[in-house]
Amino acid sequence: MTEKIKIRGRQVLDGVVQISGAKNAALPLLAASLLSPETLQLTNVPPLVDVQTMLALLGEMGVKFRVQPTSDYAMSIELQADAVECFIAPYDIVKKMRASILVLGPLLSRFGECCVSLPGGCAIGVRPVDLHLRGMEALGVNISLKDGYISAKAPRGLRGADFNFPSATVTGTENMIMAAVLASGTTVLRNAAKEPEIEDLANCLNQMGADISGHGSSTIEIRGVTGLRAAKHDVLPDRIEAGTYALAAGITNGAVDLIGGDFRRLLPTFLDKITEAGLWVSDVDGGIRVESSGKISAIQVETQPFPGYPTDLQAQMMAMLCMADGESDICETIWENRFLHVAELTRMGADIGVSGAHAHIRGVRHLLGAPVFATDLRASFSLVLAALAADGESILDRVYHLDRGYCAVKKKLAGCGVTVERFR
Ligand code: EPZ
Repeated sequence: MTEKIKIRGRQVLDGVVQISGAKNAALPLLAASLLSPETLQLTNVPPLVDVQTMLALLGEMGVKFRVQPTSDYAMSIELQADAVECFIAPYDIVKKMRASILVLGPLLSRFGECCVSLPGGCAIGVRPVDLHLRGMEALGVNISLKDGYISAKAPRGLRGADFNFPSATVTGTENMIMAAVLASGTTVLRNAAKEPEIEDLANCLNQMGADISGHGSSTIEIRGVTGLRAAKHDVLPDRIEAGTYALAAGITNGAVDLIGGDFRRLLPTFLDKITEAGLWVSDVDGGIRVESSGKISAIQVETQPFPGYPTDLQAQMMAMLCMADGESDICETIWENRFLHVAELTRMGADIGVSGAHAHIRGVRHLLGAPVFATDLRASFSLVLAALAADGESILDRVYHLDRGYCAVKKKLAGCGVTVERFR
C-alpha cells in the first residue's frame, strides 16, 4: 500500500522556507568519496531517499560512512573509502536511481576498473549514458557492454585527453571531471555543462587536492594529481527546491522567503520568468522573497541547460500557468518525455494541449481537487501545487516520488501556514 498525501484546496502559502542542500550536488559529492582513502566530510546534506540510495550503493562497495542528522532539513556525513573491495554497481540499485552512474568516473579514476549496470530508462525518457562512455574511452578506458552492464577497464591507467561533448550532459561532465582528477596529464572538457552543482563538485575536489579550473564555464581543465586528501565541504543549496516553493507562493496567491542561498545567482532565468508571470522578487537577509501580485500572467518558457530555464522546474511552472490569465507555452528541450504530469493536471480541470516538445496551456479560473498520482519526482510536486490552489480536496498517490528529491515537505509547508496530511 503506497503512502498518499491528502491536500485541502484553496490554501495560501505565506511564510519562510529554509532551503536544504541540493540533491543534484549531494549525489556526485557522495560518489567523490571513492576518490580518496581519506575522510570526506559533507555538511548540509539533504535527508532524501536518493541520498540513502547512493549511500547504500557506496556501502555495498565497502565505503564506510557515519550519518549525523543536524536538523530536520540537513545531515552531516563522514565517508571513508580506504577499504573498497567491490567495484560493482548492481542493477537492483541502479534501476532505482540513474544517478548511480556517478560511481563510474571515480571507480575508474582510483581503481582502474568497474562494472556498472546500465541505468535503463525511467519515466522521463530513455536517458542513455553514451556520452559518459565516449568520454571514458577518450581517457584510455576499454568499455564493453555485457548482460546490461558496463564493463570498464583502464589497464594502463587513465591519461588526460581533450574531449568535446557533442551535447551538454550534467552527470556526464561530473563523471569526466572525477575520472580526470587522478589521470596522468591534463584533460580539457569542451562544451561541458555549466550547472552550479558541477561547480560545487569541482570546488570540493579542489579542496581534496585536485587541480581543476574553468568549472561553471563550458571549458573545464583538469590537471591530474597523484592522490587526494581529506576535506570538508558544505553542500550547495537546492535551487530546484527553492524554485518549487516560489511557484507554490505564486499559485496560491501567497508569499515566501526562501532562505539559505544566493538564488539570484542560482536561478537567473527562472526569476526573470516568474517576474514576467507577475510575481514580485525582492532581497531579504539570507535569500530572496517571492510574492504573488494577485495575478498570474501567461508566458512562454523554453527549458535549457544552465543558465537557461531549468527542466527540473518545468512541471511546477506548468501547474502555476494553469491558473494564468491567457495562453502560455512550454517547450521542453532537454527530455523527450517530460510531460507525464499533463494528464494528471488535466484531470484537475487544467486545459493543456501537447504537441511534440510543446505544451500549450490555456489558463482556467479554477482547478478542481481530484485523486491523482505522481509519475516522477518533479511532476509529483507540480500536482501538490495544483492541489493547494484547487477547489476541493485532492489525494496524491505514489508519494515515494516526492520523497526522492524533497525533504520535510509537510513541515516546510506547515511553516507557511499550509497543512497536508500523509496517510497509507
Ligand atoms: C541531471 O541529469 C539531473 N540529475 C536531472 O535532474 C536534470 O533533469 C538533468 O541533469 C538536466 O538538467 C542529476 O544531476 C542527478 P543530462 P542527467 O545528462 O545528468 C541526454 C531531477 O529531477 N544524454 O544532462 O542524467 C539525456 O537523454 C533530475 O533532479 C544523452 O543522450 O541529465 C537528456 O536528453 C531529473 N547521452 C540530455 O542529454 C548521455 O550520455 C540531458 O541529460 C547523457 C545524456
